[in-house]
Amino acid sequence: MTATPDGDAVDLAGLARQHLTPVLGRYFERSWSHGEGHRLFDTAGKSYLDFANGIAVSALGHHHPAVTAAIHEQVDRLIVPTGAIGYSEPTARLAVELADTFPEPLDTVMFLNSGSEAIEAALKLARRVTGRPGIVAFQGGFHGRTLGAASVTTSNINYRTGYEPLLPAVYFAPFPAVYRDFGGDEAAATHACLGILRSLFDTVIAPTSVAAMVIEPVQGEGGYTPAPTAFLQVLRAICHEHGILLIADEVQTGFGRTGRMWAFEHAGIVPDVVCVAKAIANGLPLSAIVSSHELQARWGRGAHGSTFGGNPVACAAGLAVLRTIREQRLLVNAAARGAELTAGLRRIMAEDDRIGDVRGPGLMVGAELVLDRATREPDGATCEALLARAADEGLLVLSCGSVHQVVRWVPPLDVTAAEILEGLEVFANALGGLPHHGEGIGS
Ligand SMILES: Cc1ncc(COP(=O)(O)O)c(C=O)c1O
Repeated sequence: MTATPDGDAVDLAGLARQHLTPVLGRYFERSWSHGEGHRLFDTAGKSYLDFANGIAVSALGHHHPAVTAAIHEQVDRLIVPTGAIGYSEPTARLAVELADTFPEPLDTVMFLNSGSEAIEAALKLARRVTGRPGIVAFQGGFHGRTLGAASVTTSNINYRTGYEPLLPAVYFAPFPAVYRDFGGDEAAATHACLGILRSLFDTVIAPTSVAAMVIEPVQGEGGYTPAPTAFLQVLRAICHEHGILLIADEVQTGFGRTGRMWAFEHAGIVPDVVCVAKAIANGLPLSAIVSSHELQARWGRGAHGSTFGGNPVACAAGLAVLRTIREQRLLVNAAARGAELTAGLRRIMAEDDRIGDVRGPGLMVGAELVLDRATREPDGATCEALLARAADEGLLVLSCGSVHQVVRWVPPLDVTAAEILEGLEVFANALGGLPHHGEGIGS
């Protein structure tokens, strides 16, 4: 319940249930009033340390002064997107500054509105430019909800069921889930998954018929699972060899989340197309694909478009985000605070065998809950109870993974060491308060 200015109590959830779609999944049945810095406040006035950030969106926290000022200023100047009629200053400047964060030859930006739209655009570009039909995606990947993006998504069957036939000529290769499928053996995971990819090319689709491979450098929704460096490097080489475009989905990993501006940098590779969204404007809808100029020139004028893509208000926010990341050296902070978070979670794991694995990189940290460390059987039920209990105790974290068995930590990039400690303490208390496996049976 929340109080209106005239003192009446309003049941937001009750109101919403009448006319808001029941289709959206929600982590929490809580009603939110406002955000300030790294805290979110519910309508009853309770404060939460927000390590969820709208699923990696508000990377600078809430009500960030630079972002808010940029939005206010642009709202008074020009709101309407100018893509179809010419140019506007924030959109052009953001294209320049965003391109500057990428290595050569990635220098050209197309703005869209959501992560899914960026994936759609990348797939369309790849097919049109190569003249080939095939797309290779990786099992457990999540790329969005529109039909094309859902066609390359396999993190959960619910995202595909009932929508068939999905996009034709999409083929899946295994993603090297080092902990889950290979017990922590990175070399074995890389070797096995590349072997199956090669046999896909030998027996199912010729690489010369493949337009693109699309991969998250760290799977997000699928379980906060990093792809081994060697795996990404070999993918890069295979794509070069066969004229296949390598599409990096950096929708969740981008903008410093992993301690580097872009997660592909950890592997020392340069993709052909990069999809970015989520944190780009700290909460306003905006996304982009970034590639070489030559590639988008070959795509052809009018081959794709968007009414709202690159609207000036979201782009003004985007400029403030980029400048803040740069000026406050937030990549350094993300790497340092991420190391502290990972180390803290590993200390908790050392005392509690319900956590089977803790993995980074940077501030994209997953803690995987298992029923049994030996079998690594995932424990979604404990994870769900843990999220609820942590929220009750004032910490917002989310889950991911095939049965939501991984606690995903997405703190803001400017999180402090003290806030990391606070989050760890609440988490440890919440976990400690849950019954251990087997406890309570028969009672
Ligand atoms: C890696 C990845 N790609 C694509 C998407 C889709 O983005 P959107 O929900 O903005 O369409 C998401 C969303 O969570 C994502 O995590």
